[in-house]
Amino acid sequence: MLVSAKDMLNKARDGKYAVGQFNINNLEWTKAILLTAQELKSPVILGVSEGAGKYMCGYKTVVGMVNGMLEELNITVPVALHLDHGSYEGAKACIEAGFSSVMFDGSHYPIEENVAKTTELVKTCNELGLSIEAEVGSIGGEEDGVIGAGECADPDECKAIADLGVTMLAAGIGNIHGKYPENWAGLSFETLAAVKEKVGDMPLVLHGGTGIPEDMIKKAISLGVAKINVNTECQLSFADATRKYIEAGKDLQGKGFDPRKLLAPGFEAIKATVKEKMELFGSIGKA
Ligand code: 13P
Repeated sequence: MLVSAKDMLNKARDGKYAVGQFNINNLEWTKAILLTAQELKSPVILGVSEGAGKYMCGYKTVVGMVNGMLEELNITVPVALHLDHGSYEGAKACIEAGFSSVMFDGSHYPIEENVAKTTELVKTCNELGLSIEAEVGSIGGEEDGVIGAGECADPDECKAIADLGVTMLAAGIGNIHGKYPENWAGLSFETLAAVKEKVGDMPLVLHGGTGIPEDMIKKAISLGVAKINVNTECQLSFADATRKYIEAGKDLQGKGFDPRKLLAPGFEAIKATVKEKMELFGSIGKA
């Protein structure tokens, strides 16, 4: 059964580790992440962007697929199904469809409107026992056509949003989605510490987990980050393994064109990437 992300994140915050949110795109992605979490006894969060939701034929299809896998694969570790960077309408649709967690990304609204919309969604999520993530200070890079500039969040705005009763808070600290440019200044630990000081116990979320050096990840966890989002890195490892298979001409040998064979190296590559991240985040054995 899907669970809210609340307990797993509170435990992670107390235990000084982070739970990975891995974004899913299709059946292979979902199966690879769930099996890895189960093998390693790690809690896990499956992230679904609005674009990926559309691609997978809508939120109800996603809920059906994930719930089916939890049962058929005997997944017993805590799993949350979470809308990533949701709009207000998207969050409502996911709640309706059976997600156990949503992110409402109101970071592009004026703070008053972000507060008003977040307040309403917090109320609904509390009534249903779902977790809700809010964002302050937009995350840079491009995701689903939305380009953010990689701001550093205002700690007072973080407190205003945290006080609304959200479960976890994503604060921009110079992180961006996708690959980091050569001249990236790194995470602003000054901002992270100032946010933590204002929001107290609230589990913090680090977006843009792809390509952040290990020492920065560890430092972020030590300063209150309890959830780390990873998307691009699984896409890169899947693409790399698939390219190697094709370049080696394996699809042309025997039944190598069978999708169950053709997609297998990419599937294994996602498993390896997820394992590597879970080791780094310290979530192995915490289920
Ligand atoms: P990356 O694609 O950089 O790993 O970021 C993922 C993310 O933050 C999803 O919200």
